[in-house]
Amino acid sequence: MTELQTHRAKPLSAGAWVPEIIAFCCNYCAYAAADLAGSRRMQYPSNVRVVHVPCTGKIEMEHILSAFEKGIDGVLIAGCLEGGCHFLEGNLRAKRRSEYLQEMLDQIGVGRDRLRMVNLSAAMAPTFVQRVEEIVEKVKSLGPNPLRKSGVP
Ligand code: FES
Repeated sequence: MTELQTHRAKPLSAGAWVPEIIAFCCNYCAYAAADLAGSRRMQYPSNVRVVHVPCTGKIEMEHILSAFEKGIDGVLIAGCLEGGCHFLEGNLRAKRRSEYLQEMLDQIGVGRDRLRMVNLSAAMAPTFVQRVEEIVEKVKSLGPNPLRKSGVP
C-alpha cells in the first residue's frame, strides 16, 4: 500500500484535538477520484491519510481493527461503484465486511459511525472530498477513539 501524495491539505486549527482518519482507496475508481481532487487542487483536511489498496475487497478486517487498536479515530473505505469493481465483487465483499465490522465496533464500544464505506467513480472527485469532510465532522462529533483513551496499545 502506498499513500497518495497529491492531495491539497487544508490547514488545521492549532491547539484543538484533531481526529486521525485513514481513507483506504482502491487502485481504480476511488484512487482516481482522490487523485483528481488533488490535481484540481480541491482541499480536504490534512488529518486524512489516503492509503492506496488494490481493491477494497483486499482490505481484511484485521487491517481495520488494527487501525482502531492503534488509536485511529475513523476509517473511510472508498471503492468503485457497485457493479464497477475491477475485481468483479471486491467492493461487495468490502461492503459486507464493513457492515459486519460496524456491528463489532458497536459491541466493543468504539461505535459504528467511525467506519464508513463509500462507492465512487473515477470522476467523482467532489464527492470524494465531500465524503472525507463528512467522516471528519462525524468523528469530531464522536470525540477521540475510546481505545486510544483507555490506553489499549
Ligand atoms: Fe475498486 Fe475493487 S477495484 S473496489
